[in-house]
Amino acid sequence: MKATAVAPANIAFIKYWGNKKDNLPYSDTISMNISGCVTTTTVEWNPQLKHDFAVLNKKTLRGADLERVINHLRRVRKILQVRYKAKVVSENSFPTGVGIASSASGFAALTLAAVKAAGGSLSEKELTLLARQGSGSAVRSIPSGFVIWHKGTNTNNSYAESLYPPDWWSLSDIVLIVTTKEKSISSVEGHKRAPSSPLFETRVKRKLPERLRKVKRALAQRDIKLLGETIEEEARELHEVARTSKPPINYLIPTTKKIINQAIPRWRREGVPVYFTLDAGPSVHIICLAEYERALLKKIKKEFLDMQYIVNKPSEGARVIRKHLF
Ligand code: PMV
Repeated sequence: MKATAVAPANIAFIKYWGNKKDNLPYSDTISMNISGCVTTTTVEWNPQLKHDFAVLNKKTLRGADLERVINHLRRVRKILQVRYKAKVVSENSFPTGVGIASSASGFAALTLAAVKAAGGSLSEKELTLLARQGSGSAVRSIPSGFVIWHKGTNTNNSYAESLYPPDWWSLSDIVLIVTTKEKSISSVEGHKRAPSSPLFETRVKRKLPERLRKVKRALAQRDIKLLGETIEEEARELHEVARTSKPPINYLIPTTKKIINQAIPRWRREGVPVYFTLDAGPSVHIICLAEYERALLKKIKKEFLDMQYIVNKPSEGARVIRKHLF
């Protein structure tokens, strides 16, 4: 009763910020799975175990983090009628809590591994419904490539599906890890505060529907300028909502601002069509056509000498692998 799954993180072009019960979002969102930021998770349902326990990056989880995993295991137990407790071991290929959605890859991998270990065979849609309850953004790390999360109206119809496979468009997402310090305010807390921002209502009613249309068109037509301009606006708005929510949240640090306000516009003026987006953290995701990746890396290395970065391509979604972590 053991299985292992790998799932990618995803970078949202249209972002989930603010939620209702059961992680229901206020709007549809769209993302791209990213190949270089993955979580591998092994789950074993074991009749000998008295308690569920989980290890992430070689550290035993405790407190609220463990509780979140146990709550998710409970959901799987209920759906698949499993009677045993589980051992969970998980590894991220990237730093946690710095604006790469580790909860997305984490809960997608946990969902798939836990279901497979129980011998269950859920459809992709059912897996997304389940992953979403662990962490909203995990819904989009199950299907492949470019993914839409339909907001739905209740817990049984807020699911995700692939819009295009990974090879639809050769984009690169270069994540600049501007600091490895973990962020102090979780996205769980950010979602709760979001509706208190005076910007939230206009965002949901007007801005998001407009941007969704633009991102869909940009993907369909592989229009990097339209995609880039729209995702930059969207990323700035998420951080404005966070900054104006009560109490306010500020995820950006001076280096982030330097990259998005100075370096990227300058690189564009120098002829490299690159755009940024951000998650709920200080890291910058630089989106460009793959053919500009080398020119861009040269600029990054020259200007931000020792900065860590991860190069990502559009990736397939969560999948089962044979090699277990224990
Ligand atoms: O899944 P959560 O609760 O960690 O939400 C993360 C939300 C963002 O990453 C900031 C945006 C998104 O849509 O992925």
